Amino acid sequence: LTADAFFKANQPAALTYDDVSLATLYSEILPREADTATSLSESLRLPIPIISSDMDTVTESRMAIAMALNGGLGLIHYNMPPKEQVKEVARVKRHIHGLIQDPITVAPTDTISDVLAMIEERKFTFSTFPVVTADRQLAGLLSSSVVKDRYRAKTVAEVMTPRAALVTEAEERVAQDPIAAADAFFNAHIGINKMLVVNARDQLRGLVTSSDVEKITSEAKARRKPARDAQFRLVVGAAVSPHRKPDGSLDRDAILEHIGNLAAEGIDAVALSSAHAHTVSLGELVRLVRNAFPELAIIAGNVTSGAGVEFLARAGASSIKIGQGPGSICTTRIVAGVGIPQLTALHLAAQSARKLGVRLIADGGITKSGDIVKALTLADAIILGGLLAGCREAPGEIMEIGGKLYKSYRGMGSLAAMKSGSAARYGHDKADTVRKLTAEGIEALKEVSGSVDDTLATLIGGVQSGMGYLGAATLEQLRARARYVRVSPAGQKEAAPHDVVEVSTRSN
Ligand code: XMP
Repeated sequence: LTADAFFKANQPAALTYDDVSLATLYSEILPREADTATSLSESLRLPIPIISSDMDTVTESRMAIAMALNGGLGLIHYNMPPKEQVKEVARVKRHIHGLIQDPITVAPTDTISDVLAMIEERKFTFSTFPVVTADRQLAGLLSSSVVKDRYRAKTVAEVMTPRAALVTEAEERVAQDPIAAADAFFNAHIGINKMLVVNARDQLRGLVTSSDVEKITSEAKARRKPARDAQFRLVVGAAVSPHRKPDGSLDRDAILEHIGNLAAEGIDAVALSSAHAHTVSLGELVRLVRNAFPELAIIAGNVTSGAGVEFLARAGASSIKIGQGPGSICTTRIVAGVGIPQLTALHLAAQSARKLGVRLIADGGITKSGDIVKALTLADAIILGGLLAGCREAPGEIMEIGGKLYKSYRGMGSLAAMKSGSAARYGHDKADTVRKLTAEGIEALKEVSGSVDDTLATLIGGVQSGMGYLGAATLEQLRARARYVRVSPAGQKEAAPHDVVEVSTRSN
């Protein structure tokens, strides 16, 4: 059945991803030929329709850089001072691919014991570090061959390769084209696998490793397409905090000043996020930003009704986030008793979005690539939280518990996150110490997963398979061609591996 006929036939049941399957169709499309490009506004185009969530355990600059390099978009969260958020955005916009701009360094006075403790604590998988003085003057290189137990008592200065013995590269040469500069450098200095970049005052400005250069060159061959702006910089978005005055009204000046600072760094999209966006205050916020920044991509949400979509579209949103309570750490439906299973919510939203020409983003509840394919039959892009929170590029340290490695993942409506700043998103005031904040999310752990590169490659591979099965060369064709069937509990059981003993971990 078509989406309209299918959802009509299944009324009044509300459905989510696992309740349906897509019917296969005649195809002339090979999965690898399927084009996953999408857009979030007239000017913001993305080679892949995947966005990392504006959550404080998911997206900061490192995640946003990885997302954009893979063709997606990262939304930097706002549980940090506004100035820090502007810096995070600048880090993405100024990222020079291949150059590690903030390498981990050690001081000449540190002991090898200190270095070993740092590696253990921060779970580093490398043990070569540039040595710098307090004013970042390059003092030497600590090579992994001396970061050993037997040198514990020595200082870094005693065992490092001193500055005089190091070959370095000048910053100006690298800034032009870091990969070409690194290629030339590693060819000229066989055996050296770290290019240390210094400025005219011999301060360390970055580091390029030969393995990164090899990886980037092979990726270029694999035709990975980063998401870039017109000036060839990586794209990035940020969630903007609805700054409020003491009387609770929107602090318009503070909001516009902050977005102005983000725009000065070249921000590509702002997310105006609230758990309930079909409200007078979110409408006011969207209108305020739209009037002041006519060209800026505004991602607003979350809503789960056609009326909500219409409301935000008319206020000036470019893309609208759909989802109330489907997220893996969400408890909105349990706490508030509110929310619509995600696929039905998307269908309700899509009916209005089609009429208004506004874009939709499916936000929350995605646990596998098949869910993404289903979401994209009704939406233009999807947001991931949980599937990315275990990646090394997500904020936060890795913890070891019972021999397994984990990272923290928490809902922005969890008590801890609301206390760090996101209370406004859930209609609470973080300074409110009299009444207890009611959490609408939990604090959890995610097992450490692969890199963002690997995770996205697997997910996009799945999306392209889905497009191949439906004979869809583009996401527009996927939306037009999708035919749904309702899956019974027995059908759900049949869909996952069953009656076997699994010996390898499934990919997404
Ligand atoms: P996934 O399933 O990808 O969902 O982990 C991420 C999305 O969940 C939303 N979110 C929340 N929803 N309470 C909620 O009800 C929360 O505390 C919470 N924190 C995040 C958000 O839309 C995110 O993108």
